[in-house]
Parts: sequence; C-alpha cells; structure tokens
Amino acid sequence: MPKITILFSVSDASSSTRIIEKESVLDGESLQSIALDEGIRIGGACGGMGLCTTCRVVILEGAESLSRLTREEKNFRAQNLLKENERLACQCSPTSDVTILVEA
Ligand code: FES
Repeated sequence: MPKITILFSVSDASSSTRIIEKESVLDGESLQSIALDEGIRIGGACGGMGLCTTCRVVILEGAESLSRLTREEKNFRAQNLLKENERLACQCSPTSDVTILVEA
C-alpha cells in the first residue's frame, strides 16, 4: 500500500488547514471514513450511501489517485449536481497522495 497524504483544507470561519498523513489505509476505505478517523466529519446525511451530496469535496490535486466514479456520482454529474473537480467523499478511496478541499 502506498503512503497516503491527504490535505484537508477546511473552509470554515477559521479557514483552517489540516494535513493528515496516513501510512496506509484499508483497501477501499473512503475519504469520508479516513477523515472521520481524524475527527473531521464530512457530510453524511445519507449514511454514506451516495445519495445526498452532503459529502461533496473539491479535488485540488491527485484526482487520478482516486477510485473510479461510482454510478451515484455519475448520476449527480449528469444532473449538474457534482462538478468535474468534485467527488463524493463517501464514494471514493485514495490509492496515493490526494489533496481535497472540504468546505465546512
Ligand atoms: S454521505 Fe451522502 S452522498 Fe456521501
């Protein structure tokens, strides 16, 4: 398993930036789950089923390091509810470094 580096730039009132380095992640572990392990909650209204878009994140770097779009993500893109540079954190998992923007 490659080393995973994930930067969470949280756009909230404090404009804080979190840098999380993971030596490894579980195979297929979602960005949402990885973030939650670090105390960062990203959406979750549908319980991670890919149905609500509350876990939408902007991929700043490393889009190629993420798992393929799920059917749910493709459906949201077709409805213009998910932009080209966005993913659902509950639906994608990283295989190497990725930088995401979490708009909290
Ligand atoms: S938590 Fe609902 S789509 Fe990800």
